[in-house]
Parts: sequence; C-alpha cells; structure tokens
Amino acid sequence: MIKLESIKNMRIDLRSDTVTLPTPEMRRYMASAPVGDDVFGEDPTINELQQRICQLTGKEAALFVPSGTMSNQIAIKAHTQPGDEVICEYGCHIFNFEGGAPAMLSGVQLHPLKGERGVITADQVKPVIRSSDHHNPRTALIEIENTHNRAGGAIFPFEHIMNLRRLADEYSLRMHLDGARLWNAHIATGIAIVDWCRPIDSISLCFSKGLGAPVGSILCGGAEFIERAHRYRKMVGGGMRQAGVLAAAALYAVEHHVQRLEEDHRRARELAEFLVNLGVSVDLTATQTNIVIADLPLNAAKFCRQLADAGILALPISTTRVRFVTHLNVGDEELESAKLVIKKVIFGK
Ligand SMILES: Cc1ncc(COP(=O)(O)O)c(C=O)c1O
Repeated sequence: MIKLESIKNMRIDLRSDTVTLPTPEMRRYMASAPVGDDVFGEDPTINELQQRICQLTGKEAALFVPSGTMSNQIAIKAHTQPGDEVICEYGCHIFNFEGGAPAMLSGVQLHPLKGERGVITADQVKPVIRSSDHHNPRTALIEIENTHNRAGGAIFPFEHIMNLRRLADEYSLRMHLDGARLWNAHIATGIAIVDWCRPIDSISLCFSKGLGAPVGSILCGGAEFIERAHRYRKMVGGGMRQAGVLAAAALYAVEHHVQRLEEDHRRARELAEFLVNLGVSVDLTATQTNIVIADLPLNAAKFCRQLADAGILALPISTTRVRFVTHLNVGDEELESAKLVIKKVIFGK
C-alpha cells in the first residue's frame, strides 16, 4: 500500500518521455561500442545503426543526427528551395516548437491546416496546393507527424497517409514524416515500421523519447536526398566524431525498448481512465499511445505546482491543459503514486 508521505521524497516525472534515463544495460552496451571518426564515415557503430534503420524502414539511406529538430530541419532544407511552401498541421512540432527554423534555415513558409487530432486529410490539403501562377509560393512539401505530440499521441491513420501520398504524386510534392514517436504508432497498431514508411519520402525517427536513449535521431530516405541532408547536417554543425557511443544506445533501444512501449500505452490508458473517473475531461479517443492530455477546471500551472510539491511532475501546456506522458521510468508503482497525488490535489484528500 503506497502512502502519500512516502511519495513526497520521490520524483516521478510525467512531463515527457524525453526525461527517460539510460538503463545500466544500455550504458554497458554504450561503453563497449567500437567507435571511429564519423565525419570521415569511419564510426562502425554509427554505420551499423544507419544500416539497421535502412533495413527497418526500407529506405536507401539514413543519417544519424543529434536531435529530432535537426532531423526535421535538414529534411525540410533538402526537400525545398527558399520561397517554397510546406503544408503541415497547425499543432505540429515543426510549426510550434522548432524556433521558427523553417523560415530561418530554409527560407520557406509553413502553411498550417487545422487538423482533427493532428490529422490533415487529402480533402483539406488539395485546395491549398498552389497553382503555378507566379504570384504564388511554390508548394513543395507535405509534412505530417505520427504520433502527434500536441494531439496527445494520436496516431495518423494509415489510409489518410495513403490518400495524401496519392495527392502528393498527382502534384509532384514530397512528403516528410516527423516520426519522433513512430515506434509508438507501430506498437499501438501492429503496422510494421517499413509499411508506415513506404508511402513517405523522408522520415525522422527519435531514439531519445520513449525508446530511452540519451541522445539521437535519424533521418532516412532516398540516397540522393540523404546526400543533400548530409551536406546540410555539416552546415548546421551536426557532424559528430566518435559518436558511436550514442549510436550504440540507439541500437540497444531499437532491440530492447520498442516492444515494451505497449506497457507505456497500457499505463497511459489507465491514467486517462482514472482521470475521467475523477471527473476530469480527457479525450479518450485521442489517448492511443503514451500521452494523456487532461483539461482541468483549474489553473493548469497551479495544479502542476501542487503536484510537484508532492513529488509528481506534469507539464502545463495551456492555462487549463496538462500533459502526462508514460515512459521507461514509470512503472506500475510510480503510476499508483501519481494517481494518489492527483486525486489528493483535485479533491484535497
Ligand atoms: C513530435 C516531435 N518531433 C520532434 C521533436 C524534437 O526532438 P528533439 O527534442 O530531439 O529536437 C519532438 C520533441 O519532443 C517531438 O515531440
């Protein structure tokens, strides 16, 4: 039986799956990794990771990069010319959380569309594709996010991706997927990573979210595209030397931490249902993976401060909304503790 007093001395961090810590086994694997100078293409562990991801995604080439942001941004750069337009969803990461980088690094403008649970459909996209009239920017790229962070980890349904692909082909557009959490979509749907990736030109995958690696993302796509992206990685200072120790963490995570995401999904579901039973508003239909977004009848920042005082960290994402994310370092016991504290903060007992 968990007691409230004992939780106070704990720190259960539900703000994000980016807070995960490398496990002792992962650290051992990192320590034993052979390394070399990757700027010369000579780091055997990075080369192994890139090959492994090509196998997993069915793409010709892959490039290890320090972060999901860099991966998305060099993808945008490699797909576009300055003055182009990129169609994306209003709540997506590249539009909201990458510091305005598409404008600065690629000189492109984003054309965000309001999607439902992060999903934009071909019917929405078709009318905003620009004609070749010289007044218009040139539509170059469709960007989607799967799973969608802001939409509470919702999955982009596969048939909608196929519809977008057909549209993209009709208008000679490219498609980029921010698949920071594509692993979660794979586990939740049973659709293989290779199948998710097939209709898409370039995909960014992260190792440092639910997979629990300390650092690293990978961009994959066609060989020529990755060749261009490689040049842009250089320009933004993303060439890393003996980074095989980091690639080893990613390799370890891909082998050992993908299937276990189903536990995170189960716990997120449990938390979402618990909140609903307390009378808190949660879109259970959107709670498909490891993220729970609660809409509170209280000030979210204040609520999170009260939770933090009792040892539980959650993220206020608007004045009334709070995000909870389950991950590698949140087991059943941590979840029970979090539930106790949440109930106490809401009801004062
Ligand atoms: C959907 C999505 N894309 C990209 C990123 C960026 O990843 P990074 O923090 O490694 O730059 C994040 C980070 O949380 C994310 O949630």
